[in-house]
Amino acid sequence: MAKKVLVVETSLRAKSNSDVLAEAFVKGAKEAGHEVEVVSLKGKKIAFCTGCMACQKLGHCVIEDDANAITEKIYNADVVAWVTPIYYYEMSGQMKTMIDRANSLYPRDYRFRDVYLLSVAADDADATPEHALGGVQGWVDCFEQARVKGSVFAGGVDEPGAIEGHEALQKAFEMGKNS
Ligand SMILES: Cc1cc2nc3c(=O)[nH]c(=O)nc-3n(C[C@H](O)[C@H](O)[C@H](O)COP(=O)(O)O)c2cc1C
Repeated sequence: MAKKVLVVETSLRAKSNSDVLAEAFVKGAKEAGHEVEVVSLKGKKIAFCTGCMACQKLGHCVIEDDANAITEKIYNADVVAWVTPIYYYEMSGQMKTMIDRANSLYPRDYRFRDVYLLSVAADDADATPEHALGGVQGWVDCFEQARVKGSVFAGGVDEPGAIEGHEALQKAFEMGKNS
């Protein structure tokens, strides 16, 4: 069944390794016949959540920047793939800020069921993406109908473009194809 797949790229750097990993996932998802949309946080204005909680009644955030449009894309997707560089053994701050700003989703009749995490880092240890994955799991735990369906990590990539030829690209492609 064709699904709406949203890929949220959170690296702000040009020739981003995680964007390349996302492209492989997108290729797979398109090959599976899914409708895929990619949104990048590059150039977007996304302020921190102030914790006012107005969103829980209004259904949207009161801060007028780019976060609400992205939140609506998450709301309308069947599948959400978060894409992040590992920063201090966690998801990027910009990814966490976007997750917080999407707090209006919490009481709403969201559609997403399957969530993926795609991450990259200079370090190549199995444990490197663990906390980022834990963070995504924490988000998903707040949405009873959703689950973390998979994650792929490309370690040992630091300079922009270093991911070229990495074995994780094939894994991301397969993951997208099976999404
Ligand atoms: C602020 C910052 C923190 C980082 N922290 C880590 C880290 O904890 N572990 C690691 O292996 N790499 C770390 N890195 C390296 C990036 O994860 C790595 O360069 C990655 O390829 C960047 O992905 P991107 O090209 O998609 O932005 C850090 C980079 C930055 C800028």
